[in-house]
Amino acid sequence: MFKLAHISDIHLGPLPSLSFRELFSKRITGFVNWHRNRRMHLFGSTLDILLDDIRRQSADHVAVTGDLVNLASGIEIRKAAAWLRELGDPSQHSVVPGNHDAYVPGAYEKSMRAWYDYVRGDLAPVEWQEDKRIFPYVRVRDKVAIVGCSTAVATPPFSASGYFGKRQARETVNVLRAAGEAGLFRVILIHHPPIRGATSFHKRMIGIRRFAAVVSSGGAELVLHGHTHLNTVHWLRGQTGPVPVVGIASASQGLGGSKPPAAYNLFSIAGSPGAWELKGERFNLSRSGDDVSTESVDIFGT
Ligand SMILES: [Fe+2]
Ligand SMILES: [Fe+2]
Repeated sequence: MFKLAHISDIHLGPLPSLSFRELFSKRITGFVNWHRNRRMHLFGSTLDILLDDIRRQSADHVAVTGDLVNLASGIEIRKAAAWLRELGDPSQHSVVPGNHDAYVPGAYEKSMRAWYDYVRGDLAPVEWQEDKRIFPYVRVRDKVAIVGCSTAVATPPFSASGYFGKRQARETVNVLRAAGEAGLFRVILIHHPPIRGATSFHKRMIGIRRFAAVVSSGGAELVLHGHTHLNTVHWLRGQTGPVPVVGIASASQGLGGSKPPAAYNLFSIAGSPGAWELKGERFNLSRSGDDVSTESVDIFGT
């Protein structure tokens, strides 16, 4: 059995102070929003409680579906790199970027370079190469193929949309087919929910229909996403039946916010092609007396 944990939307805080030049870029809207919405509800220990719990579960692998930072300044990107190193071995932790990791033009390249060991496919060059495309990547662990996709693009102020384009779609179909032929359980990691109506218009993913076609023609067993900061399960049409598409709350969300408190998912994968057994459990932060701990919920209600 393979145990895969899923966390997302780390939004590592607190925000660094910004230079005047940075303040007058798109970051000014993010800076104001963060102070207005998040400062009250995000607190450092939330993330630590989740990570301690994941360690106790002895997960084989941890998937992190983006938004590691807030405004993607150089300091934040370096802090996130240090946080990843603390999180653990890159071969056991797979990351895909979110819109906040590509917040302004140029940020995507900086964050991918800094976090390269965590977004590098098994067959990709060991050293970062400027002109080399990273996504989709594939990492094979046990009987599981982890396929990382990117929807992260710099967007204008007040927009948090993502983009899943034709080239990535074509290559993802090829990767999924090959992994299917190799008898692997295929998990796709993507930041934006590839589901119509799952977010508001300015936060949506462009290429939702394209992604659905990728899953139905390439085949997949599970899709994990972040971005909404909500615990959700949707379904996409797969080759042999519906494919679960699972979202998760922000790993840094405290209790008492307008969004659900921090949570992680834990998937148990067993079986063989044609007869995969997938179980999903979600662990939410909850308050018990003065203490904050986690409580578990069966994701698929089986
Ligand atoms: Fe987020
Ligand atoms: Fe996001």
